[in-house]
Amino acid sequence: MLLSSRVKGIHDSITMKLNEKAIALTEEGKVIYNLSGGQLPIKPTPEFVEKIHHQLNFLKSYQYSPSAGFPALRKKLLDRFIGTRHLPADLFDVDWDVILSNGSKHSLYDALGALVDPGDEVILLAPYWVSYPEMIKFWGGTPTVVRSNVFDAFVPAIEDIRKAMTPRTKAIIVNSPNNPSGVHYSEAWMREFAGFLRDHPDLVVISDEVYSDITYFDPRPTYFYQHDPGLLPRTVVVQAISKTLAATGLRLGWVIAPASLVGAMSRIQGQTTSGPNSLIQRALLDFDFHFIESFLTPVKTHIRQNAATLREKFREANLGHCWYQSTSAFYFMLDFSRTPMFQRFDPELDHSYAITDELLEGEGITVVPGTDFGIPNTARISLVIEEVPFQEAVSKIVRYLNHT
Ligand SMILES: Cc1ncc(COP(=O)(O)O)c(C=O)c1O
Repeated sequence: MLLSSRVKGIHDSITMKLNEKAIALTEEGKVIYNLSGGQLPIKPTPEFVEKIHHQLNFLKSYQYSPSAGFPALRKKLLDRFIGTRHLPADLFDVDWDVILSNGSKHSLYDALGALVDPGDEVILLAPYWVSYPEMIKFWGGTPTVVRSNVFDAFVPAIEDIRKAMTPRTKAIIVNSPNNPSGVHYSEAWMREFAGFLRDHPDLVVISDEVYSDITYFDPRPTYFYQHDPGLLPRTVVVQAISKTLAATGLRLGWVIAPASLVGAMSRIQGQTTSGPNSLIQRALLDFDFHFIESFLTPVKTHIRQNAATLREKFREANLGHCWYQSTSAFYFMLDFSRTPMFQRFDPELDHSYAITDELLEGEGITVVPGTDFGIPNTARISLVIEEVPFQEAVSKIVRYLNHT
């Protein structure tokens, strides 16, 4: 069948593919350390599961929701945002709204659809989440990439963002805490970024905050609009239950944004998916958000512990120069380019796929190649698996990295 030129440019989701490969190898009886996971390997907090059970009893849970989601839930999410970000509530009295979608991937897709015209450029800060470039291209836009590196703990320089601006630049996506680096940008960075935005009054900012509840090292993330609330009218905030509530499969995400954008997204949604999942929305409306903290406390302790294991094993193996302190989300970026193993490779080219394949075939370890995150010769590892298999996996990784 002849496919559209639009869809021909779209790559497969690498993380989904890797997950499938790891599952297939496990089913063949191989011992696989799956460090590719972008989700918590646990069920959501029981208080939330109980709310889902309860909502099963009502007819409304099985019927269409309004296309932007139930108004009471939208109000609850806006209030939580204002409260957790310590923003002046009166700023949101008028012209603000929330739209729920089937996961925040879907929220981002609709938001870009409502903002990007063919030929528009959208700035991405590498390493970036794999789906951003594909979504931008799908809507006819062009991703412009600003890179960072391991020496700066993968925090991009504002000066480099400034240089990437052209008259066609429509928007910039900022993802802090960041997938895949596992760091969040500092308060100083956010202040400087706010200053940069003031110099570019037409630039729209998409702030992907799906990991904002998952930070295990102080200081906690802040956001540019907290330093200058005047930037909010051109800010699009993206949130979800996926990471915070260990509920990736329930598919509920949302955008908090000026009402004009939410209205446009709602029109897209009304003609595509109709609206988000009614049952899960109703359970979330009933759920007390205070349970999130107690649910995430052991999760954060666990991720911090695995990050410490990484530091110790790297230090023991003289790989300390490849280490930086991750602080949030589930991840860490391995930089292959300065390890003994890399001597076999041409440094001018990107070998992320070949190296991650060797790790899988030789050591039984699944990691995600950095190519799709916009940083060559790196890979993302996930810190969420159990402590003992994580220690075993890291021992294998450092042995591999030091092997010439
Ligand atoms: C940075 C980032 N944004 C958005 C998403 C989408 O999450 P979901 O669609 O499950 O809400 C993910 C998922 O991995 C992510 O890492």
